[in-house]
Amino acid sequence: MAQIKNIGLFTSGGDAPGMNAAIRAVIRTALFHDVEVTGIRRGYEGMINGDFFPMGRRSVSNIMQRGGTILKTARSAQFRRPEGRQAAYEQIKKFNVDALIAIGGDGTFRGANAFNEEFGIPVIGLPGTIDNDLAGTDFTIGYDTAINTVINAVDKIRDTAESHDRLFIVEVMGRDSGMIAWRTGMATGAEGIIIPDANIGVDKLFDRLENGRKNKTSRIVIVAEGEGEESGAFEIGRQVKEKFPHLDTRVSILGHIQRGGSPTCMDRVLACRLGVAAVEALLEGYKGDMAGIINNQVVFTPFEQAIKHNSEINPNLLRIVEMLSL
Ligand code: F6P
Repeated sequence: MAQIKNIGLFTSGGDAPGMNAAIRAVIRTALFHDVEVTGIRRGYEGMINGDFFPMGRRSVSNIMQRGGTILKTARSAQFRRPEGRQAAYEQIKKFNVDALIAIGGDGTFRGANAFNEEFGIPVIGLPGTIDNDLAGTDFTIGYDTAINTVINAVDKIRDTAESHDRLFIVEVMGRDSGMIAWRTGMATGAEGIIIPDANIGVDKLFDRLENGRKNKTSRIVIVAEGEGEESGAFEIGRQVKEKFPHLDTRVSILGHIQRGGSPTCMDRVLACRLGVAAVEALLEGYKGDMAGIINNQVVFTPFEQAIKHNSEINPNLLRIVEMLSL
């Protein structure tokens, strides 16, 4: 096994609260084991452009509580092409980096997997995304903060919905995952949730509005943003207004507010544990895996399995949402 002396560290894809706590954990653990860390700015874009710099213990002081990522992030189209990965590999060699830690989501790990296979550079991934859409971990770093941001926002929307006797369609993030939608739907007592990718469409909502309790004063429907034709809160709002013109309906898109803010205790602790695990895994010889936590135990899952998330939502959870909001 080649000895690892210098770990390259980067964040990539959408930022997530807790990424800074993970960066801090990686650096402090590496230094504890006498390994150097080279920061790479703006993910794979920075790798291709040679945006590398040495990181020391003090470079991560006072960042644990900050949202975003001090390493900055990007979605790199160049890295999806073999020439882009070749250019990145040349920079890795130039800066004497001999292993990588990638903090990001499924796109980041697809790139990491290709890079590891093509050039044999050991890479360990940390799940950093608000979407919670990776197999191999119960929670991703950033998800807990995002869902707490959502429930705070929806509680506020409920105040105005109740005052005006309105129906609010609230769109939450999760491009191809309903994980934010179902959990916040349950936690806010939403009257409906719509998750297009899991085939939970508008029909159920229509049925409820037609046959459900008529004297409800306010109604909240949480919609996962999705990508399909029927998806998107504005489109759903349009259909609801057409079919139920007597309801006073409004649409609210929560958007990027869900990605920012100070990480919750859960996200900080998750980031600390996984940051330590990632460095120690590299030193033990792991090379193409994501670190995650399942049933409170650190586990490693090969990248190709980690990116195959399952969008099916447990029907019992949906039953609970419906039953409790009657
Ligand atoms: O993957 C995280 C995420 O926030 C998704 O939930 C969302 O669909 C996407 O990123 C938005 O990306 P961008 O900020 O690039 O528009």
